[in-house]
Amino acid sequence: MKRLHDRVAFITGGGSGIGRAIAERFAAEGARVAISGRRKDKLAGTVKAIEAAGGRARAYELDVRDVAAIDRVVAQVAKDHGGLDVLVNNAGISGPTPVETVTYEQWRDILSTNLDGAYFCARAALRHMKDHADARVINIATIGAAVPFPGWTAYCASKSGLVGVTRCLAMEVAPRGITVNAILPGWVESDMQDAGVKHIASAMGKSVDDAMPIILSQVPLGRMSQPEEIAALAVHIASHEGRGMTGSSTVVSNGAFMN
Ligand SMILES: NC(=O)c1ccc[n+]([C@@H]2O[C@H](COP(=O)([O-])OP(=O)(O)OC[C@H]3O[C@@H](n4cnc5c(N)ncnc54)[C@H](OP(=O)(O)O)[C@@H]3O)[C@@H](O)[C@H]2O)c1
Repeated sequence: MKRLHDRVAFITGGGSGIGRAIAERFAAEGARVAISGRRKDKLAGTVKAIEAAGGRARAYELDVRDVAAIDRVVAQVAKDHGGLDVLVNNAGISGPTPVETVTYEQWRDILSTNLDGAYFCARAALRHMKDHADARVINIATIGAAVPFPGWTAYCASKSGLVGVTRCLAMEVAPRGITVNAILPGWVESDMQDAGVKHIASAMGKSVDDAMPIILSQVPLGRMSQPEEIAALAVHIASHEGRGMTGSSTVVSNGAFMN
C-alpha cells in the first residue's frame, strides 16, 4: 500500500516551489491533495500535473493573511474530502527588512503570512482533524529560525515564531495523538531562492553568476536542495512510520546549519 493511501492532505502555497513538490509527492503516495494559494494559474498547474500522473488534487484560492477565509476554506476542504488528516503550512514570503528603513506594513505582511497564517491554518485544521496517530501538522520554517540572517529580521522572527508554535502545539495536541513538526530548509531552488540570491548579489555589487560561488562557499556540501528533497522528508513525517516524531525541527541545509 502507498505510504499516504487515501489520506486527506491540505498544503498551503501548493502552486509553486516546495509546496508544489510536496503536493505532487503526497499525491504520488496515494493522498487526496488539497492545495491553496492566491494565484489561480499556479494552482491549476499543480492540479494538472498531479492528475496527469494519475493522482487526485483540488485547488482552493486562499490568502492566508485572511483568518476568516482560512476558516471557510479549511471547512470546505474537510467537507469536500470527508475529513482532514494532514496540514502542511508551507505558504510564505521573505525579503529584506533593514531595521533603519522597514515599515510597519512590511513587518506585518511577513508576520501575518508566515506566522499568523500558519497558526490560524493549524487552528482551523485541528478543529476538523480526528484524534488519531496519523494526523499531522507540518510547518515549513527555515534555518533562519536558528541562525541570524542580518537585515531579514521579520522573516527570521516569523519562522522562529513558527518553531515555537510547533513545539507548543505539539504538546497541546499530543493527548489527541496528533503530531506537529517543523522542517528547517536551507537554500532550496525556487522563486523565493531566486529572489534571495538576486538580493544578495546586488548587495555585493556582483552578478548572480559571480555571487553564486561565494554564496555556495558558505554551504559545506556546496549545493542547494531541490524542492523534492523537502517533499521526501514531509512524506516521512506524514507517514505512519513518522508517528514517533513530534515537536521536532528537522534541518535540510546541505550543512549550512548543523544542530
Ligand atoms: N526556497 C528556499 O530557499 C527556502 C528556504 C527555507 C524555507 N523556505 C520556505 O519554504 C516555503 C515555500 O517557499 P518556496 O521556496 O517554495 O517559494 P515560493 O515558490 O515563492 O512559494 C511560496 C508559496 O507561498 C504562497 N503564498 C505566499 N503568500 C501567500 C499568502 N498571503 N496566502 C497564500 N499563499 C501565499 C505562494 O502562492 P501565491 O503567491 O499564489 O499566493 C507560493 O506558492 C516558504 O514558507 C519559505 O519561507 C524556502
